[in-house]
Amino acid sequence: MAILLNNDGQWHDQWRAAIKAHMPGRAVIEYPDTPDPDVIDYAMIWKHPAGDLERYPNLKAVFSLGSGVDYLDAFPALPDAPIFRLIDPNMAEDMALYTLYWTIHFQRLFGTYHAQQKNAEWARYPTPLAHDYKVAMLGLGAIGSHIAKALARNGFDVSGWSRSPKSVDGVKCVYGPDGLQAMLPEADVLICCLPFTKATYEFLDHAILSQLKRGAALINISRGAVINEDDLLKLLDSGHIGGAALDVFHTEPLPQSSRFWTHPNVHVTPHMSGATNPDTAVQIIAKELAGFENGIMPPYPYRRED
Ligand code: GLV
Repeated sequence: MAILLNNDGQWHDQWRAAIKAHMPGRAVIEYPDTPDPDVIDYAMIWKHPAGDLERYPNLKAVFSLGSGVDYLDAFPALPDAPIFRLIDPNMAEDMALYTLYWTIHFQRLFGTYHAQQKNAEWARYPTPLAHDYKVAMLGLGAIGSHIAKALARNGFDVSGWSRSPKSVDGVKCVYGPDGLQAMLPEADVLICCLPFTKATYEFLDHAILSQLKRGAALINISRGAVINEDDLLKLLDSGHIGGAALDVFHTEPLPQSSRFWTHPNVHVTPHMSGATNPDTAVQIIAKELAGFENGIMPPYPYRRED
């Protein structure tokens, strides 16, 4: 029997090496090189083509190699085998550090100082202390709550919003439409960690984003489709949104023609805030797979929203 491997066709050497190190004895077959579908009992996949998983009659479980599962939402049908999301604390921590970097960037006006340097200009401005700088986190799932806690530990005044009530240590948690309405106008920086689902498609549109106070900043580390990009550009042009650090976009790679590349108040990164690390990911999957074979369900099953 063998593991079907497809990390969107990328970095398979690293994945193979990690599987060899942490799942010794398991054979690996790289998609699309699957001459005998019967031998596949597990799949480790990312952005796998829709319809392919149904080809393996002995498939017992699927391990997704990332935390966002929107590519699975787009599959017209799912295999009978359960699918599990990867939540790697190392990835969550990387994303926490990414958001900490940009939060401090906006809080301490590093963009302004960078611009001044071009003109050899020496001017200083008062900036709020971390505990007076209000961070608003959208989405308190496994990753969002990890990041919110990390920012709170670094002294920021962190609120977090979710659709239903949640409680996260050190974070003021609000929920539902009223909670969002109360949180947005207070925020100095809004961090989007919402999963992309039917319900969140372009959720951050003009109506929502304009509730931020003038000059507030935005960090998006979830999916580009959660934001209406034209609305965001209008709010950036008018200065209502003072700055944005965007790691994810409707279309990736971000097209050359996108105004985000050249907007003076936008920082573009190429979907790298929390890349999956094959070595730690395979260690997690190896444990989950061993548990699964002994009847213990891995902690993050994929469930399709209606
Ligand atoms: C990356 O974007 C992931 O969802 O893991």
